[in-house]
Amino acid sequence: MKFFLDTANLDELKKGASWGIVDGVTTNPSLIAKEGKPIAEQIRAICDIVDGDISAEVVATEAQAMIREGRELARIHKNVVVKCPLTRDGIKATSALSKDGLRVNVTLCFSAGQALIAAKAGAYIISPFVGRLDDIGWTGMELIRSIMTIYKNYGFKTQVLAASLRSPTHVIDAGLAGAHIGTLPFKVLDMLFNHPLTDKGLEQFLKDYAKVFQETPVAG
Ligand code: G3P
Repeated sequence: MKFFLDTANLDELKKGASWGIVDGVTTNPSLIAKEGKPIAEQIRAICDIVDGDISAEVVATEAQAMIREGRELARIHKNVVVKCPLTRDGIKATSALSKDGLRVNVTLCFSAGQALIAAKAGAYIISPFVGRLDDIGWTGMELIRSIMTIYKNYGFKTQVLAASLRSPTHVIDAGLAGAHIGTLPFKVLDMLFNHPLTDKGLEQFLKDYAKVFQETPVAG
């Protein structure tokens, strides 16, 4: 399962990248706006921190404008994946950009029918939003399972990126569902490390060791 960080914040990205487990980054207009820098500048800075797929979302809503904007975003860096919303114009743009060999992450997916459309349009990645479905009382992870089944039935190559993940449980469930990628807010990735028994076990190891060897052991 690939781990992407769902943030445009450079400090979070540097910290996550230092753990050696971050395979890519997703951004969206809200996350870019939060950092206050022009998208091209922010995305270029992100590409210098994480060597992997970096999703940058268009803000145009009409197909031709989306195509122009998508081509511009793709020119920022070879790792940029253009993000288009799952609208009729977004799918039109996805079909055109994919035919041109550009990689598109189709976002704001909330149904298996939408995901089927995105795969048929040649999407490189589909982003079903689990947390936002949970927020309205649906079972967001069901959508991941349905999409995985449909894509397997027809051999679609589109990668399923579980998005809008709110907890370590979401990440585990996305893994159980076989999602290719999970995109995590930094705080969720950080929480994933935590277990009280790990802390307790390490404390006991060090206490037992210190009883016999006063100095910190020197390797060798
Ligand atoms: O960036 C796409 C998606 O992960 C957004 O998640 O938390 O805003 O629902 P969220």
